[in-house]
Amino acid sequence: MNQLSDRINSLATSATLAMAAKARELRAEGKDIIGLSLGEPDFNTPDFIKNAAIEAINQNYNSYTPVDGYVELKEAIIKKFKRDNNLNYTLPQIVVSTGAKQSLANIAAVMLNPGDEVILPCPYWVSYSDIVKLSDGVPVEVQTSIDNDFKMTAEQLEAAITPKTKMIWYSSPCNPSGSVYSKAELRALADVLKKYPNIYIVSDEIYEHINFKGGHFSMAEFEDMFDRTITVNGVSKAFAMTGWRIGYIGAPDWIARACNKMQGQITSGANCIAQRAVITALEADPSSIKYMVDEFKERRSLILNLLSEIEGFKTNEPEGAFYVFPNISSYFGKTIKGKTINNASDFSLFLLEEALVATVTGEAFGNKDCIRISYAASQNDIKEAIKRIKTALS
Ligand SMILES: Cc1ncc(COP(=O)(O)O)c(C=O)c1O
Repeated sequence: MNQLSDRINSLATSATLAMAAKARELRAEGKDIIGLSLGEPDFNTPDFIKNAAIEAINQNYNSYTPVDGYVELKEAIIKKFKRDNNLNYTLPQIVVSTGAKQSLANIAAVMLNPGDEVILPCPYWVSYSDIVKLSDGVPVEVQTSIDNDFKMTAEQLEAAITPKTKMIWYSSPCNPSGSVYSKAELRALADVLKKYPNIYIVSDEIYEHINFKGGHFSMAEFEDMFDRTITVNGVSKAFAMTGWRIGYIGAPDWIARACNKMQGQITSGANCIAQRAVITALEADPSSIKYMVDEFKERRSLILNLLSEIEGFKTNEPEGAFYVFPNISSYFGKTIKGKTINNASDFSLFLLEEALVATVTGEAFGNKDCIRISYAASQNDIKEAIKRIKTALS
């Protein structure tokens, strides 16, 4: 008999991790799978950051850390917010966590009461919906259109607001669509939110530096939104540090204090060595990671060109992150190689089994017509993967 809680029984398994596990299984059977499902840079952490970690070990950084992070790290975060985002946070407004994922879980736990609604423009990052549900919140999906670059309009936001709306969560650059909200687009959303002073905003900026056009704007830069916005960021993507597990927030201090309290009962402070290394990462000039961004940009052109040669793939032009999110709904209802494709999950599974390419169904991101393809892979792998997809579909 299942003795587990209703909470865990109703939780979805992270679709990106599930796809990675399935790909690993097939690999173990000897199949040559190309993995384009994971949201993880395929670079090594830069040497100057690794060296800072080695130094921290030798300097005996081994004790519990302050729950909200070392003061030196929080100071480096404050400088980073000022330098890159023109945001003026103070020490009590910063909380360092074990990845931005924990930052988001803290926020949900401290902000949501049962039944509170959280507006999620679709497609949204895979875990938002379940993190909200874990805290008894209710995700409210707002469907956007590929023709509007998968961005939520002010009218759509206003239509989704109810008396129960507590928050809105979005990422820009967006995982999975790669869309980047401009200052004007954010202002239009802020003008709606101005009318509803009890709604709080999570602006997830973890892909900030992986931006091909430049021009990152933070919601909190608007003076009238600063006290209502929680800016989430981290080092996983920009510095190729996914396994180091450091994320952070800048937030109104009452929210930061609550996150600190929550974290103090769950995990305590984040890893000591990783925190010391991140001080060095954040103090470095962002040009130190430009070589990775340049490479992602080249791969983006490559994959967009290759995908344009396959019938039935409709894509937007992602301006940031390292994903494409093609609409493949023209394949729905078709039977290929004896397999009927009725939805994006069928399509993604078809690609795994028939092309040996791992992608993620858009359903995991709240969009049932698309799949997510990560181009955090070598150019050779990208070329080979798209060739296989083309062959399998022809
Ligand atoms: C939009 C977005 N937010 C947050 C995270 C979590 O990042 P972290 O590795 O810091 O937990 C991810 C990771 O995939 C992400 O894509």
